[in-house]
Amino acid sequence: MGKVTLENITDIVTASLGRNGEIDARQREIMAALLRHLHGFAKEVRLQHHEFLAACDFLARAGQTCDDKRQEFILLGDILGVEVLVDMLTNAVEDGESESTVLGPFYRGNPPVLPKGASTVQKAFDGQETVYFEGTIRDAAGQPIRGAILDVWEDAPNGLYENHDPEQPDYNLRGRFETDENGHYAFRAIRPVPYPIPSDETAGELLRYMGHHPNRPGHMHFMIARDGYRTLISQVYDSSSDWLDNDSVFAVKDSLVGEFRPADPALGTDLHVTFDFVLKAAAAEDAIAAE
Ligand code: BEZ
Ligand code: FE
Repeated sequence: MGKVTLENITDIVTASLGRNGEIDARQREIMAALLRHLHGFAKEVRLQHHEFLAACDFLARAGQTCDDKRQEFILLGDILGVEVLVDMLTNAVEDGESESTVLGPFYRGNPPVLPKGASTVQKAFDGQETVYFEGTIRDAAGQPIRGAILDVWEDAPNGLYENHDPEQPDYNLRGRFETDENGHYAFRAIRPVPYPIPSDETAGELLRYMGHHPNRPGHMHFMIARDGYRTLISQVYDSSSDWLDNDSVFAVKDSLVGEFRPADPALGTDLHVTFDFVLKAAAAEDAIAAE
């Protein structure tokens, strides 16, 4: 191959793949497509050197923002709609199972294990609305799944998750519940409110560059696990929330919108949500990997 030109640069770099070290078919596929799109992008916008340096500086600062509480690159991927896209590619709905959506950066493992119907609220906020959440978890054939483990988490009425708010008790508004023999789950919590994703640092810079806002509609997070099934990571959105049609991370799906209705006084909460989930059977390779 001759010397590099604007016309042949992409072919020259692509031809170098695997030349001096073995790479597998997936690495080749990923790198060839990455080079095609990255070079195509630079050519399309006629990227200038000062812009390339600004992008390198931006990525370096994004890296410096990461610590054990903040994963800036996931946040950047969310703002660009990449996490929700990858989630849809990974967890395609094939058999009527519930749709998944982004995990987000606020999940914490090992939440308090609570009995069915218990409350996740450790600290009450003025004006909060309590909610009784319940539903049934089934397989694709409609059979209830007993013993499914649900982790739930949400923000407080001040828009903050407890691990980003020194005023809240540890693990406030988080809990782990189990379905009963009829596949039924229930817990008490509060109505989740809209909140802005972290928009200082590089996430905020990217949002401003895109002319977009940081807000998310009110939602309850769920992670539902049971041996023999694919773990479902999803969210239930409040149908009356602001930002439902303009989520900063593009994670709202029609099937995940729930109704927060006034509760029967016997429930002892202000509101009542019924939301069922369908889990997908684990693929054979998932089952082997879990062994
Ligand atoms: C969340 O729902 O917690 C979330 C998702 C993506 C980015 C930031 C927050
Ligand atoms: Fe959230």
